[in-house]
Amino acid sequence: MTQDGPNIHETIERNIAMELVRVTEAAAMSAARYMGRGDKNLVDQEAVTAMRYVLGHVAMDGIVVIGEGEKDEAPMLYIGERIGDGSAPCVDIAVDPIDGTTLCARGLPGAISAVALSERGSMHFPAHFFYMDKIVTGPEARDYIDINAPVAMNLKAIAAAKRRKVAELTVVVLDRPRHEKLLAQIRSAGARVKLISDGDVAAAIEATLPDKEVDALMGIGGTPEAVLSAAAIRCLDGAIQCKAWPRDESERKAAEADGVDVDRVYRTEDLVSGNEIFFAATGVSSGVLLKGVRYFPGGAQTNSVAMRNRSGTIRWIDAWHNFSRLDKLGDYDTH
Ligand code: FBP
Repeated sequence: MTQDGPNIHETIERNIAMELVRVTEAAAMSAARYMGRGDKNLVDQEAVTAMRYVLGHVAMDGIVVIGEGEKDEAPMLYIGERIGDGSAPCVDIAVDPIDGTTLCARGLPGAISAVALSERGSMHFPAHFFYMDKIVTGPEARDYIDINAPVAMNLKAIAAAKRRKVAELTVVVLDRPRHEKLLAQIRSAGARVKLISDGDVAAAIEATLPDKEVDALMGIGGTPEAVLSAAAIRCLDGAIQCKAWPRDESERKAAEADGVDVDRVYRTEDLVSGNEIFFAATGVSSGVLLKGVRYFPGGAQTNSVAMRNRSGTIRWIDAWHNFSRLDKLGDYDTH
């Protein structure tokens, strides 16, 4: 017990991921209404507003470590914002109200709402860099990947750990011109490729889960998404390794001027350390990982996942929401 009340270890029987699911459900339901309208700012704004409202009711003293940007550019869920009801435990929070805003805006598969939480001071955001080069895989191959090794060597190592041929592996990669060389290397090693247009958090989780068709994620994606993925990957016992991918010389120089090692390899525990880690995500538009929001008369159905690192329990949650009863409950429309 601390003078502020129980600390995070003393509240161990509380699985905050179960509460976070309500946060991502609300964000997903709010954004999904605008799916396919072509307006990514609108879906993001709706998700942010709902996420912030429900997060504000969670019993915690949270600081947003990964958020919508700095205070002057984001009115809500900005980095450094205090959130929760102010009671124990003290936690770091990473939010991605919608990962795949373009997917949702265009009505394409795979947009999710995601949030991660860990004990105070345990989330590390390499904020100097917009992008990171990433490699992700599941538990069998977690100790055999090396982001500094050639692509073919990583694929050989993953195949050996999974007792498969390289030709039987599938690597998920964001479909971007910057990945031309990476794609050539994966293809010449003989592995299969799955290209996605957006959403590398869901893809990283798929690459970590044993029952999905992809075995690894490779390539350059957002830095915040790397930290959020790392929280889920810790819960799933997989591995992510990342390296900064400066967009230009000025980004590299600014980092160097602040004494940041641009060549540093960030491993899963470097991005999210500690043991108390919780992750939740809800599908917005249907994808491989999660089904999207489905409306029925008077309500909606959502599909979510809740994870807790310490226990390793992964829950898949199918929820049915009754709008008229929800309307009587609160002062805010979370759907
Ligand atoms: P947003 O939902 O914020 O648009 O992010 C989608 C995403 O695809 C991420 O999953 C990924 O990490 C990042 O964008 C890649 O960035 P870019 O689109 O600039 O290549």
